[in-house]
Amino acid sequence: MCGIVGYVGSQSALDVVLAGLKRLEYRGYDSAGIAVLADGGLATAKRAGKLVNLDKELSERPLPIAATGIGHTRWATHGGPTDANAHPHLDNAGRVAVVHNGIIENFAPLRDELAERGYELASETDTEVVAHLLAEEFSACADLAEAMRLVCRRLEGAFTLVAVHADAPDVVVGARRNSPLVVGVGEGESFLASDVAAFIAHTRDAIELGQDQVVELRRDGVSVTGFDGTPADVRSYHVDWDASAAEKGGYDYFMLKEIAEQPKAVADTLLGRVDGSGTLSLDEVRIPASVLREVDKVVIVACGTAFHAGLIAKYAIEHWTRVPCEVELASEFRYRDPILDQQTLVVAISQSGETMDTLMALRHAREQGAKVLAICNTNGSTIPRESDAVLYTHAGPEVAVASTKAFLTQLVACYLVALYLGQVRGTKYGDEIRDVIRDLSQIAGAVERVLETMEPVRELARSLAHKNTVLFLGRHVGHPVALEGALKLKELAYMHAEGFAAGELKHGPIALIEEDLPVVVVVPSPRGRSVLHDKIVSNIQEIRARGARTIVIAEEGDEAVVPYADHLVRIPVTPTLLQPLVATVPLQVFACELATARGNEVDQPRNLAKSVTVE
Ligand code: F6R
Repeated sequence: MCGIVGYVGSQSALDVVLAGLKRLEYRGYDSAGIAVLADGGLATAKRAGKLVNLDKELSERPLPIAATGIGHTRWATHGGPTDANAHPHLDNAGRVAVVHNGIIENFAPLRDELAERGYELASETDTEVVAHLLAEEFSACADLAEAMRLVCRRLEGAFTLVAVHADAPDVVVGARRNSPLVVGVGEGESFLASDVAAFIAHTRDAIELGQDQVVELRRDGVSVTGFDGTPADVRSYHVDWDASAAEKGGYDYFMLKEIAEQPKAVADTLLGRVDGSGTLSLDEVRIPASVLREVDKVVIVACGTAFHAGLIAKYAIEHWTRVPCEVELASEFRYRDPILDQQTLVVAISQSGETMDTLMALRHAREQGAKVLAICNTNGSTIPRESDAVLYTHAGPEVAVASTKAFLTQLVACYLVALYLGQVRGTKYGDEIRDVIRDLSQIAGAVERVLETMEPVRELARSLAHKNTVLFLGRHVGHPVALEGALKLKELAYMHAEGFAAGELKHGPIALIEEDLPVVVVVPSPRGRSVLHDKIVSNIQEIRARGARTIVIAEEGDEAVVPYADHLVRIPVTPTLLQPLVATVPLQVFACELATARGNEVDQPRNLAKSVTVE
């Protein structure tokens, strides 16, 4: 999400921090800002938009020379991408500056408490409360690290914080819970950043901060404690890649990095959306419950990978709410004169929030009186701006053109919308919702486990690099997963790839099967809906009898598929409706490796663009 840099040393803090922010811009580019300690005070500059805007501001209004500074590049969550909401945030006296990555979940009561004590809050962010709280604690203890520990003990959520105080020259403090923060150890200088990429040009010696730790940075070294003040054991390491790989965090491609980030992206998208009692509280969904109760049809519009997320959402929405749900390619939607009225809820899914086909579909829907809910990854983009409500996915910036982590987070958001509809309409009750939320909260760990076992999938992909065609089969929610696997392969490996509903095979596509044709089969769980499972096992036998080379993606412990799988990829046991969250991951890895083996450009496949702003 956001990118953070801190520096104390003998170089120009402004130059070091700005160069670091450039390396972190992939993490967010809604706004950027910097604060330096100079002449006994604090000097800051911040601007909405990309880093070039801040650069321009600094060339017109230079900051004083300083050796201590912090900076931030923002991916907006609380509060729009404006100058006022840009970081750093200051206390009312202008002595403390704070930058932040993550979400402070209990910021609302803290903000109210500060307002009652007479503080004036200058922004809509969750971050600003920290600046005021830090200033208060520092005035009592005169120790910035201790003040940070005291404040952190009051915060809930996932956060990385970095701060300076005008009365603590040559000190930068940082705190970490969940969101990343690494320390760079140089000769007479120290660095802090969300990613080593920010300081790799200066030092490759790094220290990984653990969960709930506070670091105090001085020129001559760093000290790390837990939030409770006990000295912490830290892990030092030497970074073995250089500045040119830095933006990708050591990965060869952004796509690999984004695949690896999926556990966190999934967890972040769930964060803060369930209250203490297990009730879903989707604050962003501003469509009143009374309107949602009257909805008699849901229509999902989206393109490409987002469309596949919509196809999966249909299963969850219809199953949990009993409201009919249609899923339509956004590019087709308005041209067929769809039947829409005030009782239709249109859900527009888009990573970029700028896809023209989806935008035109939602405009058409609103013209017909339908309410539109956007599921989007890009704060402040056009699609959420033009919708009645928005549920943001928290995947962070997705740079690779082929969508991976955005897809998984779109699925999570779709499940949340389906559950929420069930909650307001009374088709899903407390315990049932809590059960699904519990299952969803275990998915990040399951995705992590899938990622740890991907080497055989990569090997298999390399061995198939000479093939021309790969087919994908699935049933139920496995069908859209098959479509997504085929899309990834087309766009990355430039191979003929097609996804089918396995039951459709005998109605035509089975004629495509020939000796050694690779066919990937996504197998539903054998538990519960075992008829579905039995049927697909029969489909695997049918294609294998005709010579197909079967690549079977099946749940751990599913022994029935073993005799018919030429290659078996295991995924963790997951409730059927949620299985796409784990089953898609091997298909992403497979496509990425095949593209690499065929010498293709992984992050920017030919003819494609990340955000498609033409119809
Ligand atoms: C495929 C891919 C595209 C997008 C589609 C919609 O990997 O990324 O198919 O999913 O162009 O884009 P958004 O979600 O930005 O509307």
